[in-house]
Amino acid sequence: MPETTPPTPPSPLPADLLAALRAIVGPRGLLTDAADTAPYSSDWRGLYQGRAAAVVRPADTAELAAVVRLCAGLGVALVPQGGNTSMVGGAVPAEDGSQLVLSLARMARIRALDAVDMTLTIEAGATLKAAQDAAAAQGCLLPLSIGSEGSAQIGGILSTNAGGNNTVRYGNARDLVLGLEVVLPDGQVWEGLRRLRKDNTGYCLRQLFVGAEGTLGIITAAVLKLVPQPRETAVALCAVASPEAALELFTRFQRHDPAAIQAFEYMGGEGVGFVLKHNPGLVLPLAAPAGHYALVELATPRPDAGLRGTLEQVLEGALEAGIVQDAVIAESAAQRAAIWRLREEHTEAQKREGASVKNDVSVPVSQVPALIRDAGAACRRLMPGIRVVAFGHMGDGNIHFNLQQPEAMTAADFLARDHEIMDCVGAVVRALDGSFSAEHGIGRLKPYMMAAWRGGAELDLMQRIKRAIDPAGLLNPGKVLP
Ligand code: FAD
Ligand code: MLT
Ligand code: ZN
Repeated sequence: MPETTPPTPPSPLPADLLAALRAIVGPRGLLTDAADTAPYSSDWRGLYQGRAAAVVRPADTAELAAVVRLCAGLGVALVPQGGNTSMVGGAVPAEDGSQLVLSLARMARIRALDAVDMTLTIEAGATLKAAQDAAAAQGCLLPLSIGSEGSAQIGGILSTNAGGNNTVRYGNARDLVLGLEVVLPDGQVWEGLRRLRKDNTGYCLRQLFVGAEGTLGIITAAVLKLVPQPRETAVALCAVASPEAALELFTRFQRHDPAAIQAFEYMGGEGVGFVLKHNPGLVLPLAAPAGHYALVELATPRPDAGLRGTLEQVLEGALEAGIVQDAVIAESAAQRAAIWRLREEHTEAQKREGASVKNDVSVPVSQVPALIRDAGAACRRLMPGIRVVAFGHMGDGNIHFNLQQPEAMTAADFLARDHEIMDCVGAVVRALDGSFSAEHGIGRLKPYMMAAWRGGAELDLMQRIKRAIDPAGLLNPGKVLP
């Protein structure tokens, strides 16, 4: 029998939609071939396989607004997409080919950088790395750093209210936004690109769109706060006996000089083991592998702060007290980068190791050790052989309590139990007064948890806001709200 390719299912979209879109964005702005749209149709983790009817790539805000107006008139749903690095399937279109992906990638201009106001005005499709580089070129720092910064875009960063390694000092993405330009679901443009440090003029609309995951409007540009670039940076990797010891170390740094802490990250031994296994070029710069690690970075814009001395002083005290078992201080920029790679390669290493269930959870900082202990025990009871990969932003109480499939289990069998595992960790987090989503958002993976965690008045209010701003439900349907 000759092999036949299955026919492409008929498109549920209005017949003349593509021609009308092409008239707005031109041929460069519209992708329709399956090979071209494929990268926009699935997520970074490979959890979802959608089908974009087409990918629309406007070149500027006017084109984007015209696309949204056209789609609003025809009742066609849009899925805003930035770098497509979402951990929760937030930017994936539905499987039935009824939705368009709206990519911001061609809107990546830096509109202004003011080194006196310390602000960067930038379009949503610029990558976080490009924004950081633009700030650095003027002696400033955009103080947000995440492992995906080479791909993640400013629009995605703001729409997820991303956190990352420097939240402990500067806050989440939300804390860095002074103004926004947003295209609303009916195609109106809200020109809110203000650079003001103070502006109490009614409801704070910009914060409504930050963290809304593309369900209320499309962010097209933003004004972000900058800070002076650090002149001195000191990094250490420490082996510690337990999560309790890691917390005690954090507390010592906080008491010593809280303003100097740029990052304080925790890593469990199993995750570091995966990183070393999947990156043969990396070495652990300590005498022996440990069960737990802390990575601390201090930084300051002051030229004469003597951070190296601070780091040594706190670490010596912690070594004497038995809190730290072993430690290494980076002697060069290359060593700093190598230590950071042990942390930043966790996500890739987990992907290479097989299937994982991620729990991006937060608890009060004081409860992080209890979280790691209790959730580990609960997961091992639920599924003997499950491998715990706990790491992340200890200084914010945000641990990525990720689980790797048992070696003897198939990926499919493991992933079939993802809700069971997430709910098992969730029960521990709830008992510790925590949250089931610290920085990755809800996307398509977690709306089922919203009623149990945010039900009642809170969810009702969110649903009323969604109905008021997007009554036809055309922006990123199926995400965030159950
Ligand atoms: P996308 O994945 O494209 O979209 C994310 C959501 O935002 C979707 O709901 C989408 O519809 C919406 N959206 C995108 N652009 C717009 C726009 N212009 N207007 C309106 N809505 C929009 N996250 C962290 O918080 N901290 C970390 O430390 C971190 N580390 C990571 C490390 C790795 C290796 C990877 C792969 C991911 C990591 N992430 C982290 C997750 C992810 O990178 C962030 O959520 C990031 O903010 C997503 O940006 P993006 O441009 O890829 O957005
Ligand atoms: C990180 O901080 O590296 C990511 O947010 C974590 C993850 O992969 O779960
Ligand atoms: Zn993280």
